[in-house]
Amino acid sequence: MDVLLTINGQEHRLSVDVRMTLLDVLRESLGLTGTKKGCDQGQCGACTVLVGGTRVLSCFVLAATVDEEVTTIEGLSGEADPLHPMQQAFWDCDAFQCGYCTPGQIMSAIGCVQEGHAGSADEIREYMSGNLCRCAAYPKIVEAIQHAASEMSAEAKRQTGGV
Ligand code: FES
Ligand code: FES
Repeated sequence: MDVLLTINGQEHRLSVDVRMTLLDVLRESLGLTGTKKGCDQGQCGACTVLVGGTRVLSCFVLAATVDEEVTTIEGLSGEADPLHPMQQAFWDCDAFQCGYCTPGQIMSAIGCVQEGHAGSADEIREYMSGNLCRCAAYPKIVEAIQHAASEMSAEAKRQTGGV
């Protein structure tokens, strides 16, 4: 079937098999391989993207059902743009080892902050528990999210004129 997907601000008209997941369309049809396939069963979080600003497991979503804008790791910054505060914080806090889980961790971390679930280290750990990292970079990931949370809320205030 034909679908129209808006991904990172760009519209894509595609013909997809109705059984194709959003993850496979991103990676196989559009070459957006920043989103990783870990378990392909909804258990590891490596495939996390934002749909309509909400974090979702893209291996669990059929592409044909998506009708809101999708944001992947590739959409967080461009050549001319600075890194997203969460990307910068992961860099500053050295919050990755092999890096395979990192795109999913970053997308999920943005969702975690936007949902208001970054109030404490314990809360962050709880709301990031769906994202697995086999290298155990967790302490630095929590630290990065705490750093980015304050920067993201300052940025949100700037955008709304301090309201
Ligand atoms: S690849 Fe989607 S949760 Fe693991
Ligand atoms: S940094 Fe290697 S799996 Fe997370």
